[in-house]
Amino acid sequence: MDHLVSTSLLAADFGNLDRDVIIVNDSVADWLHLDVMDGVFVPNISFGFPVIRSVRKVAQKPLDVHLMIVDPDRYIARFREAGADILTVQYEACIHLQRTVTEIRSHNMKAGVAINPHTPVMLLKNILPYIDMVLIMTVNPGFGGQTFIMESYSKITELRKMIDERGLDILIQVDGGVGPENAKRLVDSGVNVLVAGNSVFSAINPVEVIQKLKNPL
Ligand code: DX5
Ligand code: ZN
Repeated sequence: MDHLVSTSLLAADFGNLDRDVIIVNDSVADWLHLDVMDGVFVPNISFGFPVIRSVRKVAQKPLDVHLMIVDPDRYIARFREAGADILTVQYEACIHLQRTVTEIRSHNMKAGVAINPHTPVMLLKNILPYIDMVLIMTVNPGFGGQTFIMESYSKITELRKMIDERGLDILIQVDGGVGPENAKRLVDSGVNVLVAGNSVFSAINPVEVIQKLKNPL
């Protein structure tokens, strides 16, 4: 399978959100990544349902919603109503993770589980059969524009092996510090979905950067 690119709107211009969503519509990007932060799980607050709803109206691509919030179970149905197609929860925020991901799927969304840089991939062993995607955080969540953590490569390789050995159909996504300079190595290591925020929206030509992420050298 060719890898996918999910552009993170956290780095977009919130005063011109429609314009930035249209840039993504007209590009070769596959998904729109939306980062929801609650100021508790991460030391930052981003946006919630009204923004997702507005993006949904303009977006022509699936909405890939990444929840950096405690107790996500309370809001699963509302994220679906707001327009989420893929809903990813943080492993560290879920006490009954199997229940949470089953609930996400029952609302007709793909279920993803994100792990922080310090969380070993081995802890996912028993949840893998219930999910559609693993998000390996390649920075500590909370902010865009951070430096990619190099240790992530060994986590990707290890997870790729776990998934392939068991013949599972699960996407590996990476998020944080991703750009044209590390895209090829990430894809070669087994990544299926590249999330990119600042590398795209801080660029003079975002469409060109998305192209490079889609066809990395
Ligand atoms: C960080 C978020 C990311 C963020 C990535 O906590 O989960 O999705 O937008 O931003 P960049 O690509 O700028 O590192
Ligand atoms: Zn994210």
